[in-house]
Amino acid sequence: MKNKGKILVIDDEEIIRSLISETLSIENYSVTALDSIPETTDYFSKNSFDTIISDINLPGKSGIEFLKEIRKFDETIPVILITGSTETENLLTAIKYGAYDFLRKPFPLSDIIVTVNHSVQKRKLEKENLKYKVTLEKMVVKRTEQLEIANKKLESNMIKTMLAMVNALEASDKYTRGHSERVTALSLMIGEKMKLDFKDLKNLQMGAVLHDIGKIGIYHNILNKPTKLTDEEFSTIRKHPKIGYEIIRPIDFHQSVFDIVLQHHEFIDGTGYPNKLKGYQLNLLSKIVSIADTYDAITSDRPYRKGNSKQHAIDEIYKGIDKQFDRDVVKILIEIKDDITPDSLSNINVIKKYK
Ligand SMILES: [Fe+2]
Repeated sequence: MKNKGKILVIDDEEIIRSLISETLSIENYSVTALDSIPETTDYFSKNSFDTIISDINLPGKSGIEFLKEIRKFDETIPVILITGSTETENLLTAIKYGAYDFLRKPFPLSDIIVTVNHSVQKRKLEKENLKYKVTLEKMVVKRTEQLEIANKKLESNMIKTMLAMVNALEASDKYTRGHSERVTALSLMIGEKMKLDFKDLKNLQMGAVLHDIGKIGIYHNILNKPTKLTDEEFSTIRKHPKIGYEIIRPIDFHQSVFDIVLQHHEFIDGTGYPNKLKGYQLNLLSKIVSIADTYDAITSDRPYRKGNSKQHAIDEIYKGIDKQFDRDVVKILIEIKDDITPDSLSNINVIKKYK
């Protein structure tokens, strides 16, 4: 059985063609012999070889032209050129286009066997390398996908844990119950009206959900104190943006999510906390959450008073333009005023809207 490799021999001299064919057939190669160069693209799309042996001087197309054409669709197939001339220029061009070797007429038959054995071996190794490379690349792609899925799952679990923490924090007090969800809903209504892109809305959603997570680190009796807070208690409560930031810092969130948690109590005029940042230093998403947060604080019941009306909240926020709040975001709040209802602020599944 001829299984050492497939060889194509092209020579216009019948005697050389048959000599090479017979020699290689005896060596267990499968040989196809042609007397002229075939239509390259068409022929090689239907036939594949491990080595090509071609005369350099053929009627019509030269062996070098043929070599150039072959290189366009197969950069590695070994091509052995048979040459009768001693012209170095031809040989150099052939080397440039990747000729594997040369056989100078007259050549002993043993030369052709040795040269073909080497070239077929080289072809075999290259094919194996390529196969290995492709397998390796596929493996890398597959592993990367698996890793991404695992990471997403891990991230999703961490976020769910944090949501559970926020819910636990708010559930302990009837006055704050649902606060983060309402702030998220209103922030998204503002963000959508501003035509923020999907990524910003996703980050706005996450930041708004987590904006008060730092309150986990504040004593319950201070957070839920029904009477006026002392200065010391105020300063304790003011630590929650930084505590929140430290809690979520290990997670691979976009910077804007960290900004929201850290900046939602900053004022445009630089008198807020914790870092007294000014308007131009604040993330737009933080400015949105700051307004939604204040709106919910004004309209929610407190131990010492009933919740105020929507109009009252909007009037108060309006008064805070350029001091506490960003002018453009307040304008948007006023534009969507009619859409703000108890239903629109509570009937959303915040974690599922943008993900
Ligand atoms: Fe807060």
